[in-house]
Amino acid sequence: MVKITGIVGSPRKGGNTEFLVNSALKAAEELGVETEIIYLGSAEIEPCIACDICKSTGECAIYDDMSDILAKIGSSHGLIIGSPVYFGSVTSQLKMLIDRSRPLRMDFKLKNIVGGAISVGGSRNGGQETTISAIHQFMLIHDMLIVGDGAPLAHYGGTGVGVSIENMGSDETGLETSRNLGRRVAELASVINTE
Ligand SMILES: Cc1cc2nc3c(=O)[nH]c(=O)nc-3n(C[C@H](O)[C@H](O)[C@H](O)COP(=O)(O)O)c2cc1C
Repeated sequence: MVKITGIVGSPRKGGNTEFLVNSALKAAEELGVETEIIYLGSAEIEPCIACDICKSTGECAIYDDMSDILAKIGSSHGLIIGSPVYFGSVTSQLKMLIDRSRPLRMDFKLKNIVGGAISVGGSRNGGQETTISAIHQFMLIHDMLIVGDGAPLAHYGGTGVGVSIENMGSDETGLETSRNLGRRVAELASVINTE
């Protein structure tokens, strides 16, 4: 069965990113795919120490929650990554995952996995697109296939505005673009992986 994994890059449990990533995954499930969600806020992830062991062994020399996370990402057909905007880019929790994902790139395990991005900021023009761009760079460098939120809006992905979770329910654009992104990731992952 086609599997889509969602990653919540916020340190906050029950926050806006979680709300939008969950909304995207629910929309994906409506197309018959299986989903799983990973919360970086409750994961133990150390930063990359540039030991370069992954270059010779394909394995990371740091043993923490990343081993499990890499295994889950590597066995997915689609990936939806969400991050709050922190100073115009991703959170440090997500950046640690990005850098620590290098072992998967040694033999391009993520090649042809379908990826989409969601970002939520406290301000309307707070850096949602630059944050999505940072996530897209990660996906391109892994040779993944990137989709946006698809027609009829067809822009960069899920873009939300909110400070507290109470705001998110009324952020119709954030919800719509995130749900459309979830559907688009599920749609393409199903086309590619269904014989
Ligand atoms: C350290 C920090 C930096 C932030 N930088 C920005 C920013 O550059 N632009 C913006 O619009 N919001 C910024 N915010 C606000 C968050 O992006 C916003 O509250 C978001 O909805 C939080 O998502 P969450 O509920 O998933 O944690 C920042 C918040 C923090 C804690």
